[in-house]
Amino acid sequence: MGTVVDAAAKKEANGSLADLNPTVVFVLGGPGSGKGTQCANIVQHFGYTHLSAGDLLRAEIKSGSENGTMISNMIKEGKIVPSEVTIKLLQRAMLEGGNDKFLIDGFPRNEENRAAFEDVTKIEPSFVLFFDCSEEEMERRLLGRNQGREDDNIETIRKRFKVFLESSLPVIEYYNSKGKVRKIDAGRPVEEVYESVKAIFAPKNEKLTKCPFSLSLMLTFSVCRLINCCKCVQDFRSYVY
Ligand code: C5P
Ligand code: MG
Repeated sequence: MGTVVDAAAKKEANGSLADLNPTVVFVLGGPGSGKGTQCANIVQHFGYTHLSAGDLLRAEIKSGSENGTMISNMIKEGKIVPSEVTIKLLQRAMLEGGNDKFLIDGFPRNEENRAAFEDVTKIEPSFVLFFDCSEEEMERRLLGRNQGREDDNIETIRKRFKVFLESSLPVIEYYNSKGKVRKIDAGRPVEEVYESVKAIFAPKNEKLTKCPFSLSLMLTFSVCRLINCCKCVQDFRSYVY
């Protein structure tokens, strides 16, 4: 049961999130499909802030929060933490992020996550980036990555695969039916995958020619930097990288 204070806090968080009106891209794919790796590239070149739901949950455990033990047990079992907890962490991170463009990685993981996020934040994703990868390849990567994660053991990995198939794929299908899924073949080497990712984030080369300063690439970059025209600077970056 939420208290009056909870309700007020919720209203305030949503009020300021609504003011922010952020651009959100959901980044989904099985465990080990390369979501985090590719998000790091997107952040560097396209000015997004990366929020990994799994990382936020792990930080919450470390912070000694009252939910820590529950979250830790769920992660060890590969289960999905109640949406209320994860959404609060995402809301807080978005408000503190100092940006209005977010890659939300590993969320929504099930129908409950999806519906609750939409209900609470009223945010619709611009699109969903889906890293499609075979279980064999994901298993190979997870067992090889050695990040000291308690859930990167074969027993938990199998459970996470099952949860992905049963709970997360339906979310991807939901967004697919709305024409929002951008699917990437994620079984390839990192650089090749990023080539496909880049094409999604910077698809239109004509953007630059529409820029009033686009006499030359260098001039575009200098003038836009000067007047802090982020969109043009990002368009320019998408050419270069
Ligand atoms: O995305 P990542 O692999 O870091 O997630 C690790 C674990 O965190 C998941 O297996 C799940 O237990 C938990 N998680 C969750 N809800 C999310 C994202 C992650 O419960 N939306
Ligand atoms: Mg990750």
